[in-house]
Amino acid sequence: MLFWRVKPLDQILANAEKKPLKRQLGALQLTLLGIGAIIGTGIFVLTSIAANVAGPGMMVSFIIAAVVCALAALAYAELASMVPVSGSAYTYSYAVLGELVAWIVGWALILEYAVAASAVAVGWSGYMVGLINASGWFTVPPELAAGPFEDKNAGIINLPALFIALVITALLVFGTSKSAKFNAILVAIKVAALTAFVAIALPAAQAPNFEPFLPTGWNGVFMAAATIFFAYVGFDAVSTAAEETTNPQRNMPIGIIGSLAICTIFYLLVAAAAIGSVGAQPGGELAQSKEPLAYVLRELGHPQLGNWIAIAAGLALPSVILMMIYGQTRIFFVMSRDGLLPEVFSKVHPKYHTPHVVTLCTGAFVSLFAALFPVGKLADISNSGTLFAFFVVAASVMVLRRTDPGRKRAFTTPLAFIVCPLAMAGCVFLFFNLSGYTELMFLAWAVIGLLVYFGYSKKRSHLAKQG
Ligand code: ALA
Repeated sequence: MLFWRVKPLDQILANAEKKPLKRQLGALQLTLLGIGAIIGTGIFVLTSIAANVAGPGMMVSFIIAAVVCALAALAYAELASMVPVSGSAYTYSYAVLGELVAWIVGWALILEYAVAASAVAVGWSGYMVGLINASGWFTVPPELAAGPFEDKNAGIINLPALFIALVITALLVFGTSKSAKFNAILVAIKVAALTAFVAIALPAAQAPNFEPFLPTGWNGVFMAAATIFFAYVGFDAVSTAAEETTNPQRNMPIGIIGSLAICTIFYLLVAAAAIGSVGAQPGGELAQSKEPLAYVLRELGHPQLGNWIAIAAGLALPSVILMMIYGQTRIFFVMSRDGLLPEVFSKVHPKYHTPHVVTLCTGAFVSLFAALFPVGKLADISNSGTLFAFFVVAASVMVLRRTDPGRKRAFTTPLAFIVCPLAMAGCVFLFFNLSGYTELMFLAWAVIGLLVYFGYSKKRSHLAKQG
């Protein structure tokens, strides 16, 4: 039975009281945190990769990825409002599918959050290096602007990516409240930049630019969907803040679904504007650009606005890094509180009320990966972990409906027994549209996770000690 030990929900809720974090986030702040986590490298940087793979058909890729995320978001919202404690998919699966599955989910979430944070830091670095070089004052040496694992133009270390990851880590150590305010400002910049982009580019759209619509067929559309999925990742990070949320029963679902819905509308408008105004055929200029949105505005005869959108991206992408590192630390925090990771991880700073030890450890990990690896690979690997976590969350909703039907659910997933299997199928589908390399990395990561679990965590689990 030990192999299948499940942590009772009541115990999870009681445990949360042991080392409480301060409840200080409301619905609006949560939605802003969600948007802060969602809009980032996906739309600002990976749009060109999607265009290269799918052409104008990437519009469909954006829709496919949004549908899978919306289905998963409904499941997330039910669990987050039912188990309003830190830890997200990890906590839910501990209660529903047992410790081993929870461990693997927690381990996969490291890919989702920490690796995504690294990916966005690398994306940020690309924009900043471009801006600095364009200013003409100083040229960043290429060896210091790319890690050694880039396919083309490999360098020694990505110093700007390392720098931004460390700055964000410091902010998080000093406190959620201050960081959330900082985040709100950056969200405003991001939303303003995308709104301006749509306002300028959409009126310039021409029907012929959408032809041919599917230059690489449906295969290209599906592969681009698996990559562009990254653009939506982040709404679930909201659920990791449940323990710091006022009235989580009401505010969590609003935060998760609201932020996802707003971002989906933005993405479709931005994609339509980019494709319609300058065209987006594979191998074309948009598809090759490292700053696709800035490129579009320059092409349309607004070079200065192109620079401004690059500055906005440079200012705003850090809010995504912030949410990703934040989500990661809260998951480590809960895993440590459960005994699966060293106890020092759940230490809360006496003055700042933040889990400072785990924040510093996560920051070190994120900085290292950001310094060494390219953005595309990091994003795809992050997606593999996220898809796995979403799959387990959707399964957990259905299991809990059967095993614990009487428990209060502030939010119930509509048509759960249709929505959840569809969410699971969507995750499997996108996973198998990732590259073989990414799937292999995911498997290798899972094997390492199992070794750590059986070598360290299993015997130290607090649940095991209780017998
Ligand atoms: N959705 C986030 C981004 O696109 C991770 O940067």
